[in-house]
Amino acid sequence: MIADPTDLRTWLRGLPSFERDRLPPFDPDDAPADPADLFLAWLRDAVGAGSTAPHAMNLATADASGAVAARTLILKDLDARGWHFATGSHSPKAAALAQNPNAAMTSFWPALGRQVRLAGTVQDLGEEAGTADFLARPPPSRAAALVGRQSEPLEDRQDYWDAYAAALARVEADIDGVLIAPEWRVYALAPHTVEFWAATPDAGQIRLRYRRSTDQAWTKGLIWP
Ligand SMILES: Cc1cc2nc3c(=O)[nH]c(=O)nc-3n(C[C@H](O)[C@H](O)[C@H](O)COP(=O)(O)O)c2cc1C
Repeated sequence: MIADPTDLRTWLRGLPSFERDRLPPFDPDDAPADPADLFLAWLRDAVGAGSTAPHAMNLATADASGAVAARTLILKDLDARGWHFATGSHSPKAAALAQNPNAAMTSFWPALGRQVRLAGTVQDLGEEAGTADFLARPPPSRAAALVGRQSEPLEDRQDYWDAYAAALARVEADIDGVLIAPEWRVYALAPHTVEFWAATPDAGQIRLRYRRSTDQAWTKGLIWP
């Protein structure tokens, strides 16, 4: 515990951000026309560099009152509909998205000194997509999804473990694979803007922003650091 705020500031200032001499090169002149291709190339680089949870992304939402919330999620897929994530339709994030589909996502890969920012709108991909994702989950994850009630106050941890054990028993008894969690959903964020940020060995950074125009084509250009 650091009691003195001056010590805290000094300590924070001394923490390292990147190993600059180990950063991979990024040439924005070689960037592909579609930001999804560059995102996947960077994700593969992060996997190759041994990054922990390279597919974890931050999702920021704002509800109808303008209250903002952010949380980490796992990227489930990327296709023409956008960046997919899965969660319960009764969760606070799902409630916020039902009120206001505008959202942002970020990825950060410290070992590579790279960040990606997406901004756009989110759609619920529907019951079938939710069911397919649910059935592809390993039994413990299916049980956790079945418990639901995400972010509700929990009086006693045992209440959760009891609910989880009951859900796991249902999953394990479901040999025909017919048990589903109707609340489980896949959402896709279709970005109108995607920005790639890369730290460079000279302590600088490169920022490349893609914007989708009304005809759905992408235009890209550098932006000031
Ligand atoms: C690495 C990591 C991955 C996570 N993946 C998911 C996920 O895929 N889906 C999900 O609903 N919550 C996931 N969570 C939990 C969320 O961050 C969050 O706590 C939860 O979804 C409740 O958010 P909400 O109250 O804003 O709806 C993850 C958390 C971490 C740290």
